[in-house]
Amino acid sequence: MYNFKLKTDKTSNNDIMKNILNIFRISLASFSMLMLFSCSQPKENISAKETQTNPAKIPHLEKQGTATRLIVEGKPFLLISGELHNSTCGGFEYLRPVWKQMATKNLNSVIATVSWELVEPEKGKFDFDLVDSIIAGARKEDLKLVLIWFASWKNAGSIYIPSWVKRDYKKYPRAKDEHGKSLEILSTFGNSSCESDAEAFAALMKHIKEIDSARQTVVMIQVENEMGLLDNTGKTPGNARRDFSDQANTDYNSLVPEELMNYLVLHKDDLFPELYKVWKTNGFKTKGSWEEIFGISEFKPDRKEWQFYSYYTEELFMAWNYARYAGKIAATGKKEYPLPMYVNAWLKQASTAWPGRYPSGGPLPQVLDIWRAAAPSIDFISPDIYIDEFTWACKEFTRSGNPLFIPETRGGAVGAARALYVFGEFNAGCFAPFGIDNEGFRANDPLDDTYALLQNMSSVILKNQGKGTMRGILVDTVSRSMELELGEYQIRAELAGERNLGIAGGLIIQAGSQEYIVAGKGLDVFFMPKDTSMRVAIDAVDEGIFKKGEWIPERRLNGDETHASTWDGTGLRLSDKKPSIQKISLYNYK
Ligand code: DGJ
Repeated sequence: MYNFKLKTDKTSNNDIMKNILNIFRISLASFSMLMLFSCSQPKENISAKETQTNPAKIPHLEKQGTATRLIVEGKPFLLISGELHNSTCGGFEYLRPVWKQMATKNLNSVIATVSWELVEPEKGKFDFDLVDSIIAGARKEDLKLVLIWFASWKNAGSIYIPSWVKRDYKKYPRAKDEHGKSLEILSTFGNSSCESDAEAFAALMKHIKEIDSARQTVVMIQVENEMGLLDNTGKTPGNARRDFSDQANTDYNSLVPEELMNYLVLHKDDLFPELYKVWKTNGFKTKGSWEEIFGISEFKPDRKEWQFYSYYTEELFMAWNYARYAGKIAATGKKEYPLPMYVNAWLKQASTAWPGRYPSGGPLPQVLDIWRAAAPSIDFISPDIYIDEFTWACKEFTRSGNPLFIPETRGGAVGAARALYVFGEFNAGCFAPFGIDNEGFRANDPLDDTYALLQNMSSVILKNQGKGTMRGILVDTVSRSMELELGEYQIRAELAGERNLGIAGGLIIQAGSQEYIVAGKGLDVFFMPKDTSMRVAIDAVDEGIFKKGEWIPERRLNGDETHASTWDGTGLRLSDKKPSIQKISLYNYK
């Protein structure tokens, strides 16, 4: 703070004048930059404020069997989606043409970003013009939106916080590594940081409610992005396994919060195996410090052992603190407008194998129990899957009923195959390749056809979610075939041999006791009766589409376009040219 007390000597008076002038200059400069940013750019007209009519109709999550479905305007909705690049929503002119491009990609929704620095450039002064522009643009193309709140953390770093937060590092303290070095990461122990973030987020949610609760363009919110403590440039292994600021050290050596202990006791038999293991090894204590309850962590730096849980106690501790912080933000926002809210994670992987090299405390399966205990306002955790161990990641993230929602992943041919697989196999609620507005995804993107097919059959997929009547297929040049069971038949899917696809995906729905709907591309799909005393053959195969959920056959397939039983088995050929939907009726005989 400047001290404006008048002094009598001349030099001091000059200093005071200089200070006043400087303050004036800085304020003028920031004000003009802000004005330049918002006034120089033509804004979108969003419809006049709409008041929300029926709270029951707000987008929300609902269970059907084992699946969790997003309900929008009273109907289940599958997010066939893509995430925009980080800065696409950074300016009106840049963003405007993107919506037309999105409309060509057969998406029904887009994941777009809202950043704290642009929403609240000055403390307490909000600017939602860009948010309005995002919503107006999506509406024009009939797309739903998931909005990401880029605020305290993005890929661990605090790079989207407003300048007034960045510069006031005393009020908004940074996390520290084990050598006492400050990181460019807000500490979860900064109460003012959490409060300010929550206030801004609440203002955003209030605004969205005002302009959108009647139209429901915005259907879900991602709170922060890939949070956790990280220091990829740190020289000492594990230097950022946890926050080492004074408050963090005190808390780490204090009792594990009672709230968490109560949760663990209550859910003891359903805990993540590693959590159960370390708690058990340390005697299932219910009172003690983090290391007394969960033990002193081990560390294995060898890449080959990347799946080992190094520095696990530190990771649990950070998870509790990140989840408390993000949970408060989500809860504050939900008080204004309770849309479903999730958090996403940078995955543990061979190249970033231990906490601190991937964001420590981020919402990963091994700390899901901690997130659930600390942040009930967060509806689920989500993986950003760029690694090759795609299926492993899906399985990990669907443990103990966590719904699969993939907000970031690879697109192109790989993405197209995986999209079919996850909707079929995991009751996924969302699939979204990252950088969907990328140049590379403009022409001949294999995802486009697959997305058209998924949209065509989304009501059928939704109807079968969580009922055990649907499975996914994923084969590639490493695992060329897979087997699965569905109804009365054992089913084998193979990467169509003589063709060039390196990966193929599909989904199978059981439509009757001897009837299946199969969607996909580049696949051979064979049916074998579980009752081996019977033989099986094709009654009929049709290629077709769905209209309003009804199957419309378009072409009878037979001969070379099927696998005919006396020739090469019983089943379907799905072309590698274009994804298709086929319905097969089988019969058994002796
Ligand atoms: C993961 C992040 O969550 C995204 O925002 C983006 O930075 C991608 N990585 C880039 O690959």
